[in-house]
Amino acid sequence: MKGIILAGGTGTRLLPLTAVLTKQLLPVYDRPMIFYPLNTLVKAGIKDILIIVAPEYSGSFLNLLGSMLRPYGINISFIVQKEPRGLAEAFILGEDFIDGENVTMILGDNIFEDDFTEAIQSFEKGGRVFAREVTDPERFGVVEFNKESGKVISLEEKPAEPKSNYAIPGLYIYDPRVCDIAKNLKPSARGELEIVDLHKAFLDLGELDVRVLNGAFFDAGTHDALLEASNYVQKNGFKDRFHPDIESALHAYNKEFKRLVTLKSL
Ligand code: TTP
Repeated sequence: MKGIILAGGTGTRLLPLTAVLTKQLLPVYDRPMIFYPLNTLVKAGIKDILIIVAPEYSGSFLNLLGSMLRPYGINISFIVQKEPRGLAEAFILGEDFIDGENVTMILGDNIFEDDFTEAIQSFEKGGRVFAREVTDPERFGVVEFNKESGKVISLEEKPAEPKSNYAIPGLYIYDPRVCDIAKNLKPSARGELEIVDLHKAFLDLGELDVRVLNGAFFDAGTHDALLEASNYVQKNGFKDRFHPDIESALHAYNKEFKRLVTLKSL
């Protein structure tokens, strides 16, 4: 299983913060946001991770994560997305990286408490998305599904009259056919390659299933959600749920950073 973190985009809802720093490097309590989706993938046993970034911030991501996890057997590579042409473009840009394997993509601003190890490791073929019960489904992609089999019945994007209360959060698992499906997508009315069209393609093949999530979930793309995420992490000790390799890597990075600062000031 390969992993992709989608960490480009424009972050207009977080202006002016995102005029000076990309959203996924903004702090969520004690560390840059990207560590949360990175942790979700690492905890699930994924060792090969592609981070898709916007050109302006590629250097910052590389400085932070370029070699941090290599001592732990986790390989991180980077690709630049020149313009934000939509979530589904990840599978066109990432085709060589995916290289015929199954792939899990997580959005760089999505923070999950749930552990995805079983859902990722048991995945064989088709597409798998997740469902999180919300009170305002009309703001999301909404999924209706059979609770026994997990088979998806319908998908709707921001429906006026939702058929269920379950929103689809930003973690998706596909088999490698996703690359060809993405290449054949047409941009939507807003000019983007839409992730929901990938789900629909697997639904049409009868190969889309869904798993229900229960833990805390934050789509940290707004000021309120960003603050809520930080408060939640501070209060509930999310830190303890980080994979030990990530904790060790961060510790080593901070130590080396301090050493270099000391050297410079001598
Ligand atoms: P969004 O939050 O939908 O978009 P955005 O980050 O550009 O923010 P805003 O709507 O406030 O302008 O994106 C979800 C995640 O996907 C986020 O981590 C950014 C990333 N993304 C890309 O990397 N490339 C893209 O083309 C898009 C649309 C998003």
